[in-house]
Amino acid sequence: MENEILITYAKKAMGNAYAPYSRFSVGAALLTREGEVFTGCNVENASFGAAICAERCAVLKAVSEGYTSFEKIAVVSDSGEYTFPCGICRQFLSEFMKDGSVVLEDKDGGIREYPLAELLPHTFVLLKD
Ligand code: THU
Repeated sequence: MENEILITYAKKAMGNAYAPYSRFSVGAALLTREGEVFTGCNVENASFGAAICAERCAVLKAVSEGYTSFEKIAVVSDSGEYTFPCGICRQFLSEFMKDGSVVLEDKDGGIREYPLAELLPHTFVLLKD
């Protein structure tokens, strides 16, 4: 799927952001290896720490529907700037998107794509003997 189309899905999802506290709306669109798209938005809460980022919202929707391998995720916000996934979301994505990429767009329509491995080198892995 074209990055432009995935961005369009992310922008639509951003319209559902529930962000009365930060007033920072984020939308995400996750493309699975099977070609399905799952979208997400940030969902905040009066108990601030309970907020869920748009990226993890999309991942939870996909995994709960049985999709666990992702090709890319598009992320947009209403800031007009490139909006990089936060550290928690990078780690969360890395579980299901080993060779995947993150697609971003700014207010001028400039699209950039980054390998997730570049945004999160040395991902935490749970190793024990
Ligand atoms: N947020 C996301 O949705 N994704 C990120 O990667 C970073 C931050 C949301 C969380 C919160 O609702 C708002 O942006 C401000 O931090």
